[in-house]
Amino acid sequence: MAEVELDFLGDLRRTHTCGQLRATDAGNRTLLMGWVHRRRDLGGLIFIHLRDRDGITQLVFDESKNPAAHKRAQELSSEFVIAVEGQVELRSPDTVNPAIATGEIEAAVAKLWILNESRTPPFPLEDSVDVKEDIRLKYRYVDLRRPRMQRNIIMRSNIAFAVRQALYAQGFLEIETPFMTRSTPEGARDYLVPSRVQPGSFYALPQSPQIFKQLLMVSGYERYFQIVRCFRDEDLRADRQPEFTQIDLEMSFPQEEQIFEVIERLIWGVCEAAGAEVEKNIPRITYEQAMRSYGSDKPDMRIPPFYCVEDLFAGTGLTTEGLPLVAIHVPKTGQLSRKERDEIKAFGQERGLRVFDDMKRLERDHAEALAKVRERVKPAEDDLLMLAGWAGEKKGALPEYTVLQACGQLRLYIAQKYNDRHKLLDANTFKFLWVIDFPMFEWDEDEKRWNAAHHPFTSVLDGDLEKLTSDPAHCRARSYDLVLNGIELGSGSIRIHRRDVQTKVFAALGFSEEEARRRFGFLLEALEYGAPPHGGIALGLDRLVMILAGENSIREVIPFPKTAKGTDLMCEAPSAVPDRQLRELGIKILGHE
Ligand code: AMO
Repeated sequence: MAEVELDFLGDLRRTHTCGQLRATDAGNRTLLMGWVHRRRDLGGLIFIHLRDRDGITQLVFDESKNPAAHKRAQELSSEFVIAVEGQVELRSPDTVNPAIATGEIEAAVAKLWILNESRTPPFPLEDSVDVKEDIRLKYRYVDLRRPRMQRNIIMRSNIAFAVRQALYAQGFLEIETPFMTRSTPEGARDYLVPSRVQPGSFYALPQSPQIFKQLLMVSGYERYFQIVRCFRDEDLRADRQPEFTQIDLEMSFPQEEQIFEVIERLIWGVCEAAGAEVEKNIPRITYEQAMRSYGSDKPDMRIPPFYCVEDLFAGTGLTTEGLPLVAIHVPKTGQLSRKERDEIKAFGQERGLRVFDDMKRLERDHAEALAKVRERVKPAEDDLLMLAGWAGEKKGALPEYTVLQACGQLRLYIAQKYNDRHKLLDANTFKFLWVIDFPMFEWDEDEKRWNAAHHPFTSVLDGDLEKLTSDPAHCRARSYDLVLNGIELGSGSIRIHRRDVQTKVFAALGFSEEEARRRFGFLLEALEYGAPPHGGIALGLDRLVMILAGENSIREVIPFPKTAKGTDLMCEAPSAVPDRQLRELGIKILGHE
């Protein structure tokens, strides 16, 4: 770094931020502080864009008026931190910059203080410059200065504030729960923290505050919430991080609809804070309807549903006994080339589907049935319509769902693949959806057993209690998901508040009484001390901000995220620790196979 003589801040105070000054301030004195964003040296005149969190103000150093300040300004480079004092002046009409809020004025600098210098940044701070993500993450403190990141992080803060406002207004208390605790039941691996004072014992970081929030209901707090960090050691994707933030809440004596109302009020407040326009009516569909109309439990409602039409084609050879035949309909994509259609067919075939896209042939061989399909689907002239059935053997615990899921993937594949051309999945359209009545259990093919589809504290629909043991595949839970643009935003349920029912559910999950007591004994005991009916939900804050900010990865809305391998590239965590520290903890590293 070049040696620059630095000034002290002394008792200088800012009078304005860099986004504040307007034409009406002309003639006034101003003292600004910030970073040198851009510098243009025209000899006798030096122009600097001074940047702070609030915006950009143009500074002018005029050699003829203030030779000393002009001379010092020659030493400035990108990202130097400075303070300037001067007078606000109107720009001449031909130099007004409508792209920035302060574009009608500039500050004529009389005095300059250089508060700190900067090495040349590892990449330009303009959004338009594409920078590799690992470099961005290594120098995250620089990356976070970029306008896009500033907008995202500020939006995140505004959203968190709107969440608090909405929940405080609805009588919720913000209550903290421990981070150093026992394993919690969300189905991922735990992050463990060794205890020094009890060598060989470990805390687990919570995968969610699930058990504690239920205990808070037993303790009579009635409405709890928390914006809380959760930790899950699982394979990472664009919408998953090992530590992430939930908007977690729980209520006593609720109906599902009351929980939905609380969340809907919260969502309207959040959308307003993020400047997103949404319809104030979130549809509700059952899990079964979602599967039959979208082939997914998190349907993207920006594109229309598909239709099961096997009834219209019975005995034609197009259907497989007992399995769906699906009419897939994607708007505006009717004019694809032969090659593009072949790619779509190949995608379907890889997932076990038989795709019928030759409409002329279907018209010729099945005119009547096809006319009825069109009546059901009502495609527009330039929409794509194709049929898809199953090519192979029946498989899976619910084979019709395997077919529906493959059709759902095909529907989304087409919309995503041609999104650039047809704008089907517009990032500024926000379609929320409640999916209700999820199955209670999921079949685990590897372990050959039923697992809780949500978590083991979820109530069964009153009418399905019998099915817990007689027909687990069709036993429905009082659980619900909030979905936004095809992404699961939140999950919740009405909980089991009775000890006897909880015992039955543990038994259905194959937990012995002993295992249940070992893992969740304190909760089971708490249910014996007057646990009220209760229920709640948790929304993923990172996912919510990601979608409202129009980003494709939650890493873009988390200040210091981790890579797909769980690494923090900036502080190089995780890292080895000194032997002394391991000895203190009674830990010996065996190495990995
Ligand atoms: P669930 O496990 O479905 O439910 O989590 C709730 C929401 O948290 C978000 N989420 C994640 N976000 C980023 N990275 C992750 N690794 C990650 N995992 C989950 C999702 C998800 O919908 N205790 C229950 C809630 C309840 O029943 O009240 C729970 O944690 O947006």
